[in-house]
Amino acid sequence: MSDIKKIGVVTSGGDASGMNATLRSVVRLAIRKGLEVLGISRGYTGLVYNEVIHMERRTVSGIINSGGTLLRTSRCEEIKTKAGLERAKKTLEYNAVDALVVIGGEGSFRGALEIRKTSGIPVVGIPASIDNDIYGVDETIGFDSAVNVATTAIDNLRDTAYSHERMFIVEVMGRERGFIALAVGMGSGAEYILIPEVKEDLDNIAHELKDSGRRGKRSNIIVVAEGYGSTVEIAGYLQKVTGLETRVSIIGYLQRGGTPTARSRLLAATYGSSAIGELLNGETEIVVGLQGNQIVPVPLSLAASKRKELGLDLYKLAKELSY
Ligand code: F6P
Repeated sequence: MSDIKKIGVVTSGGDASGMNATLRSVVRLAIRKGLEVLGISRGYTGLVYNEVIHMERRTVSGIINSGGTLLRTSRCEEIKTKAGLERAKKTLEYNAVDALVVIGGEGSFRGALEIRKTSGIPVVGIPASIDNDIYGVDETIGFDSAVNVATTAIDNLRDTAYSHERMFIVEVMGRERGFIALAVGMGSGAEYILIPEVKEDLDNIAHELKDSGRRGKRSNIIVVAEGYGSTVEIAGYLQKVTGLETRVSIIGYLQRGGTPTARSRLLAATYGSSAIGELLNGETEIVVGLQGNQIVPVPLSLAASKRKELGLDLYKLAKELSY
């Protein structure tokens, strides 16, 4: 028998489509297991300033298909300080919260680890981030949704690129990592994909573009991860060297919103259920993560600190396919 009677749930960091479906899963599963659920508003800010709402089954009705997060979110700086952590501990004590479920990405898990150390209560993380960059986790909630938004947008850009015989340089999210750009580039059949993990030689790309132009190629799509460098400068340089008429399209924050895909909703349902199961089984410091076909507990300390490596085989395949 677990001592846990009341859990807190918080969405933190950059929002990801599917966070609402995750809240629905966590709240309903917890209530089904006889627990009380307190929603923490506005990410860790709500924990620092005691902004909480009581959650019922009906509080999470009608949100399975909506983007954003009902509870709102934030990138909270105060939780990185000793004073902020002490305030968070007080909020948890004042509201008699016995365990915390954190729905978010790597930065949120770093905060979660500190909250665990300061408050002593069990903390379970649910990976939700468009970036898909959590160590030990094959897929985060929201990644598939973000990739689909960008892929559909590029399908549209292809039409106009073809008609006008232009090159489009398309920026997608991912300040530090190329998981989104790689998936979007693969899915949309981009001619080139530029990711922070691999430095490409722009002169070489320009040379190949001129070469393919001579072979009759009239339009091109280059997908660039936000963190690779200035998309506008890359576009300017490639236009100057190749002479190809070039346009820039920044997809950016469009990727964070919109209806979650069925895939993101499925992950939300299963991660939510695993998180409640692990808490009731006595886990105190983990993240639930898909590995192959199974959802397994990953130590929170690893998810918060270790780097997930991007498989460069896919990157090579994208190159082979676009030739
Ligand atoms: O972590 C998700 C993400 O959308 C990244 O891809 C992006 O670099 C960053 O958040 C943007 O952060 P913010 O919403 O704080 O501008």
